[in-house]
Amino acid sequence: MTQILKGKRGIIFGALDEQSIAWKVAERAYEEGASFVLTNAPIAMRMGEINKLAEKCNAQIIPADATVDDDLNNLFTKAQEILGGKIDFVLHSIGMSPNVRKARPYADLNYDFFHKTLDVSAMSLHRVLQAAHKQDALNEWGSVVALSYIAAQRTFPDYSDMAEAKALLESIARSFGYHYGKAKKVRVNTISQSPTWTTAGSGVPGFKEFFNYADTMSPLGNASALDCANYCITLFSDFTRMVTMQNLFHDGGFSSMGINASMVKPVE
Ligand SMILES: NC(=O)c1ccc[n+]([C@@H]2O[C@H](COP(=O)([O-])OP(=O)(O)OC[C@H]3O[C@@H](n4cnc5c(N)ncnc54)[C@H](O)[C@@H]3O)[C@@H](O)[C@H]2O)c1
Repeated sequence: MTQILKGKRGIIFGALDEQSIAWKVAERAYEEGASFVLTNAPIAMRMGEINKLAEKCNAQIIPADATVDDDLNNLFTKAQEILGGKIDFVLHSIGMSPNVRKARPYADLNYDFFHKTLDVSAMSLHRVLQAAHKQDALNEWGSVVALSYIAAQRTFPDYSDMAEAKALLESIARSFGYHYGKAKKVRVNTISQSPTWTTAGSGVPGFKEFFNYADTMSPLGNASALDCANYCITLFSDFTRMVTMQNLFHDGGFSSMGINASMVKPVE
């Protein structure tokens, strides 16, 4: 390990269990010398798994629902107290669609659910950035990373209204990236990750099929949660200081593929 995050302070959203991408990010950030607080929705705390991670990473947990501004204000205030200064990096690893959970067909969405999808999975990034900005809680050259998926650009029918949420998420990263960059040189990016076996991922209908499809289509195969964590670490580090307002594909090459011979049957 190179300790490339030595001395950096962070906030990591979204570690639910050992499969979570955020879990791997926390483990890697700890190995690389960062100190951070862990946070998740109070309801997710009930599983109790996050306590194991907190112990392993010597981190405190501050519950916060990412759709509740008071929770986020409290989170940034307490995190700075606990860590002893301003924050250098934030991981937004949050996604949930009630329409997907309840298997609503795309042409028969429930709009209350749709609002919830957008609030939890996308507007929450704006809320996080706004809370940080108002408190001036991030150090100059700080780095905020949110996780996205290629359904923001291409159609994956079973991804349902999460596609709209990811399009909004990526747009917020660009827009707030401008404002925060101008004001404080804070960087804001999204990583568009391969299908990954997690609670959120495997909740999408037909996940196994499109996991295998993407794995075969990509010359490098699918990127794992650990691969994704390593990429996040580089974006939190000082080696990527001039990268901002980007949607960065982390998918083994999937997003650039047209056809892959191993996917097609030869014509007789
Ligand atoms: N798994 C995949 O295939 C895949 C692919 C690309 C992108 N992503 C994205 O990666 C991110 C992390 O998901 P994951 O795959 O690790 O699954 P996960 O289920 O482990 O993580 C999702 C997290 O969102 C949290 N969350 C839900 N509602 C919340 C709220 N109101 N406030 C705070 N937290 C809330 C959950 O508690 C959970 O910890 C999501 O944005 C997801 O869309 C996942």
